[in-house]
Amino acid sequence: MIQLAIFASGSGTNAERIMQHFQSHDAIRVALVLSNNSDAYVLQRAAKFNVPSVVFNRTALNHGDVLQTLKEHKIDFLVLAGFMWLVPADLVRAYEGRIVNIHPALLPKYGGKGMYGDHVHEAVVAAGEKQTGITIHRVNERYDEGAILFQASVEVLPEDTPAEVARKVHELEYRYYPEWIEKAVVSGLPS
Ligand code: GAR
Repeated sequence: MIQLAIFASGSGTNAERIMQHFQSHDAIRVALVLSNNSDAYVLQRAAKFNVPSVVFNRTALNHGDVLQTLKEHKIDFLVLAGFMWLVPADLVRAYEGRIVNIHPALLPKYGGKGMYGDHVHEAVVAAGEKQTGITIHRVNERYDEGAILFQASVEVLPEDTPAEVARKVHELEYRYYPEWIEKAVVSGLPS
């Protein structure tokens, strides 16, 4: 079995879709959910799928404890799905080529520190963009700067609110992320 861990900070609707996708997979399973937020609803979603979860603080993330936990659970591949903290360099190195994130916009636009979740959709609407989308990318030690691996776009209509844009982007995420992860885990990340 190839073992995935999902990092998420909030609701975890993407994490849920990913857990669903691999629920009865014969070669890949979600073995752990990790969150920096003990109130995150993703923890309840994990429990629903009988996936163990771990809550950590910044010290644990930045001083090797999270990496140790991943080793203890024999995790092969890391998936970020709505994770809001920077991943430290030791973790990026340990999982080089085996760690990806999804960003709710067409990077390099609307990325970087502070550009997450609804902030992204508000900025897209405020700028009058005609399209937005999703970006799956490698994770490095800087926010949203790892190599872009996959993008899909959707139209933004003049009357769309940030909430409507969020809905459209989530739809793309659910449609593409779980299957894309499956391919990447089986064949390796595209170059
Ligand atoms: C998702 O749209 C994800 O792309 C975004 O947060 C949302 C989490 O939703 N991630 C970022 O903004 C990372 N910079 P979810 O908790 O319902 O999956």
